[in-house]
Amino acid sequence: MCVLTGAGISAESNVPTFRDAQQGLWAKYDPHELATPEAFERDPELLWRWYRWRREIVAAAEPNAGHFALAELAGLVPRLTLVTQNVDGLHQRAGSASVIEFHGNLFADQCSVEGRVVEHDQHVDVPLCPHCGANLRPGVVWFGEAIPEDALNVSFAAAADCDVFLSIGTSSLVFPAAGLADIAREHCATVAEINPNTTSRAANYDYVFAGNAGDVLPEMVESLTV
Ligand code: OAD
Repeated sequence: MCVLTGAGISAESNVPTFRDAQQGLWAKYDPHELATPEAFERDPELLWRWYRWRREIVAAAEPNAGHFALAELAGLVPRLTLVTQNVDGLHQRAGSASVIEFHGNLFADQCSVEGRVVEHDQHVDVPLCPHCGANLRPGVVWFGEAIPEDALNVSFAAAADCDVFLSIGTSSLVFPAAGLADIAREHCATVAEINPNTTSRAANYDYVFAGNAGDVLPEMVESLTV
């Protein structure tokens, strides 16, 4: 199996999805404007405030039944490759091993010049790289930036070599992640989607489970264990 997850699988953990309206004071900002290298260049302090707000939401969140069911599913099939567009780390906290983080991780800081991941305990508006002094940035992929090469290669290979591809909680609007299902289909995999709403690509799937990941995934796992 190859599984792609999006923000929808964390919705039941009260982590807002991308296309939900931003909340509170961030309502006036568009994530597509904020999550960009240009926005960081223009106002790193604003970016850090936004990411610290998102970190607080995620730190207060708990994995939900959908995350736990996926972790259990990995033990019920010969091989499961989990690719997530999410940066919240909830799959790992639910026990999923070797999660491919297609868009990076909210809690990994990296040097904005060298790209290296930097551990630090700086509680300042804009933390600085201890090696070169440049601004540190959150280790997430911004719009217009490339997907980490290793994540891209492993995900494409897994999509091309699976019997079943499961797309969960994603609007399938952002490529190249949204193209993984096409790769799987081109390699004769059975392709399914779990989403309470119909996405624009539902017609391409063999099966569409119209429901919440936190409901559908545990039922799937139960059907495999009876
Ligand atoms: P979106 O917010 O675009 O889509 C979330 C999807 O989850 C929607 O299709 C919802 O219908 C669905 N959904 C909501 N609640 C659900 C539930 N309980 N169970 C299952 N599905 C549910 O988020 P993504 O598709 O993840 O990219 O967005 C993909 C990428 O677009 C993000 O990674 C981000 C954004 O631009 C970057 O940051 C580079």
